[in-house]
Amino acid sequence: MPLTQQSLTELILDAKKKAYEEIGQVDAPQPPKQVDWPVTCEVKPGLEGAVAAGTEVGFVDGVRGALVYRGYDIFDLCAHSTFEEVSYLLINGQLPTQAELEKFTGELRSRMAILQPTRQMFDVLPVKALHPMKMLEAAMIGAHAEDATDGNGGEIEWDDAAWRVIAQMMTATGMVARMRAGQPLVEPDPELSHAANLLYTMTGERPDEIATRLMDIALILHADHGMNASTFTSMVVTSTLSDLYFAMSGGLGSLKGPLHGGANEAVLYDLQEIGSADNVEPWFEEARRNKRKIMGMGHRVYKAYDPRARVLKPLAEAYSRDNAKVSGLLETAEKLEKVALEAMGREKKIFPNVDFYSGLLYKAMGIETAMFTPIFAVSRVSGWVARCQEYRENNRIFRPRGIYTGKIDLQYKPIGER
Ligand code: COA
Repeated sequence: MPLTQQSLTELILDAKKKAYEEIGQVDAPQPPKQVDWPVTCEVKPGLEGAVAAGTEVGFVDGVRGALVYRGYDIFDLCAHSTFEEVSYLLINGQLPTQAELEKFTGELRSRMAILQPTRQMFDVLPVKALHPMKMLEAAMIGAHAEDATDGNGGEIEWDDAAWRVIAQMMTATGMVARMRAGQPLVEPDPELSHAANLLYTMTGERPDEIATRLMDIALILHADHGMNASTFTSMVVTSTLSDLYFAMSGGLGSLKGPLHGGANEAVLYDLQEIGSADNVEPWFEEARRNKRKIMGMGHRVYKAYDPRARVLKPLAEAYSRDNAKVSGLLETAEKLEKVALEAMGREKKIFPNVDFYSGLLYKAMGIETAMFTPIFAVSRVSGWVARCQEYRENNRIFRPRGIYTGKIDLQYKPIGER
């Protein structure tokens, strides 16, 4: 049966029902109403267990495998909302009225035209050689340059900058995709949604409503996720009273790594390396022997199935089944999940995360693998803005300690005596 908007919504609501049947039995602590400082917590390597800030932006319930943005369940937002509305929600704290949403969307659309400074930088940078995330970093400089020419004299007005970085992350992603493909740039169309514009500016073709809706859902799903590495990085930059553009560059750098946002690309490369469903078991055994991580699996917080993967899996399956662009990859992914869950699921509580199925969906849309992490950034930028904005309201510079375990009593020797 052909996919429709209605059938996509039903797939999400089915996934929600299944999730709640499974997790409804699990008792998990309710989030506290406020944080009373100082907080007593046990901190492990990688700051595991450390509390960095109180927040009302979002809640990751790692015990049950649930995710909430500003009080709203991620399944409901995916089923009924849009990326623009979710961005407003994250940044402003409540769902917008029609007039508020139109104003917010208008602010984004009025800032998404291709910027001259970005274009000029892209023209001199080796676009095909650099990772696209590096180009997005340059785009944040381009966005700031444009801001400075608006008569602000380098002084940044927060809302203006926030709308600009959200808009430009999408525009720049489209630019990079086109330049990597050796194709002419495509200006975003202010009549299209953010998700549709992302696809349009990357591919040069106006997407159909199913691809648009799927991309919108993917953007909703990736927009915020607790004190993840890139969000924390952007907050650390903000906490020094540096500017929002630098905070976004910090977030991009952190997101790029394969242990974080870069995992969506790594999954695709692994699936291609495995080659076919028949080869999953020997590949998996070899990976385990070599202590190689299975990309798109495991999570610092979730010790249950990641709700974002619960949404993406049925969507990716429905969209990529019989799709020649991902021929064999879906079956390989499904088999890999099954084998990995048997080996590591119950015993080590390692389950698929959001990155396991997202790449498959993007690949089925004809998107180049290197562009997967930038798509993540197009979405997560809203979470970064929301969290940085919240933190700066009661700002205190982040400054944890290291525990010095080196020597302290060495005598300095001139270089000729060493
Ligand atoms: N495949 C195989 N084993 C994994 C694993 C994976 N994807 N993720 C974690 N583990 C194992 C580790 O080998 C370790 O085993 P050990 O206790 O026997 O040494 C244990 O689980 C804890 O792993 P660790 O890396 O310390 O967990 P973490 O909380 O520091 O890391 C991730 C979390 C997400 C970085 C980690 O699960 C990972 O690297 N996943 C793959 C990358 C990925 O998908 N990232 C996207 C996250 S949304």
